[in-house]
Amino acid sequence: MYKIPTFHTGFPPMSTGNGSGMRPREHWASRIGFIFAAAGSAVGLGNVWRFPYVVGENGGGVFLIVYLAIVFTLGISIMIAELVIGRAAQRNPVGACRALGGAPWAGLGYLGLVSAFVILSFYCVVAGWTLNYAWTLATRGFASDPAQAFEAFVASPSQTIPVAGVFMALTVAVVLGGVKGGIERANLFLMPLLFAILVALAVRAVTLPGASAGLAFYLAPDFSTFGIGTLTEALGQAFFSLSIGLGAMMTYGSYLDRGQNIPRAAGWVVGLDTLAAIFAGFAILPAVFAAGLSPETGPGLAFVVLPTVFATMPFGALFGTLFFVLLSIAALTSSISLLEPLVAYFIDEHRLRRGGVTVAIGFAAFLLSIPSALSLGPWANYTVFGKGVLDLLDALTAGIMLPAGGLLIALFVGWVLGPRAIMEFDESSERSRFAWIWLWILRIPAPIAIAWILIRWAMQ
Ligand code: PFF
Repeated sequence: MYKIPTFHTGFPPMSTGNGSGMRPREHWASRIGFIFAAAGSAVGLGNVWRFPYVVGENGGGVFLIVYLAIVFTLGISIMIAELVIGRAAQRNPVGACRALGGAPWAGLGYLGLVSAFVILSFYCVVAGWTLNYAWTLATRGFASDPAQAFEAFVASPSQTIPVAGVFMALTVAVVLGGVKGGIERANLFLMPLLFAILVALAVRAVTLPGASAGLAFYLAPDFSTFGIGTLTEALGQAFFSLSIGLGAMMTYGSYLDRGQNIPRAAGWVVGLDTLAAIFAGFAILPAVFAAGLSPETGPGLAFVVLPTVFATMPFGALFGTLFFVLLSIAALTSSISLLEPLVAYFIDEHRLRRGGVTVAIGFAAFLLSIPSALSLGPWANYTVFGKGVLDLLDALTAGIMLPAGGLLIALFVGWVLGPRAIMEFDESSERSRFAWIWLWILRIPAPIAIAWILIRWAMQ
């Protein structure tokens, strides 16, 4: 239906048709193709696994309000900023920042690549859990005690490490082939299917006996639980969920055509991602209370609660299997967007071949994933600031590195690109007031808000 570009051509970007014989960079063939790829990056484990447990740990409704406020102010502004950088430069994050801002700004690109590598490492551990759940539900059905089954599973490295490896191998395979072929096209009907099951799950969860306490927790804000932690966690969750602050959206933006309306595309991606998170909240939080569990269960929350909801549904094991398969695919369309910027960088800036680079980075990230996989089992006692390896890497990236990247992106587009960015924003309305509002958000409120949250957090 639409054609997805092979991610990186390895050729220098084409300036405006100078007849130098350079091969043009491949572009998304349609607006919908780009939106599905970018939404595929955004919608993933961040929505279904991370969002509900972070809401649970941070007071419920208050967190939801702060989160939505951040997403629709800072989040969308920074997503547009990344797309603008990518489309203007037509290259990988390091090359793009250097080309547009001069050598020191390459540092912004490097920060993003390190974040991408670290996130990729623990992302494939949790994606491995998802794969395992699809498989066990299909072959063995429901465990009698889901909480205990989850504990036993994550405590077993002989299971968690291989499944993380399988997921990483799938990610490598897709990126190796260029994302041109099946998977992105498949998104076109897989994403709506995932949404459909999420909605069905949500309907089931909110009608469970005892669910109303969970609904109240999720929707009725209790302002006494608000604190600086609410802001930090909401900021980190927003960046993680929207795939911003590390150059993934820059890379995707570099395959965009001039004619495309960036703000509108960003609006779609942010809207779909937020809808998915909200539905996941409805599917999980009421069920937590109905099952008599604590919302502060932590990273295992979705994996403990969802099987209990599926178990109450007709054909529950079937739906459950399908759901975890779809979630694995959603995770895959996210993990490829973590690997691709790294691969593009090495091809571009070091003239390496796609095949070798993809396998080498995937393998290195897999090695780094092993401590994360062990951290919920045999290494549970090795903690820093009370966090095991997986939690620590997650907090370091989502909580600090992505917001720091976002801060720099805001400053870069606001002050270094400045009016040049307005031209990229939306060609049809160069002087539109909206574009200037966006630029001024990036110039002053966005950096101040992010810096303030980071500093307040550090002082604690
Ligand atoms: N946004 C993805 C999710 O919510 O699962 C995770 C992610 C993908 C974060 C790509 C960052 C990124 F660059």
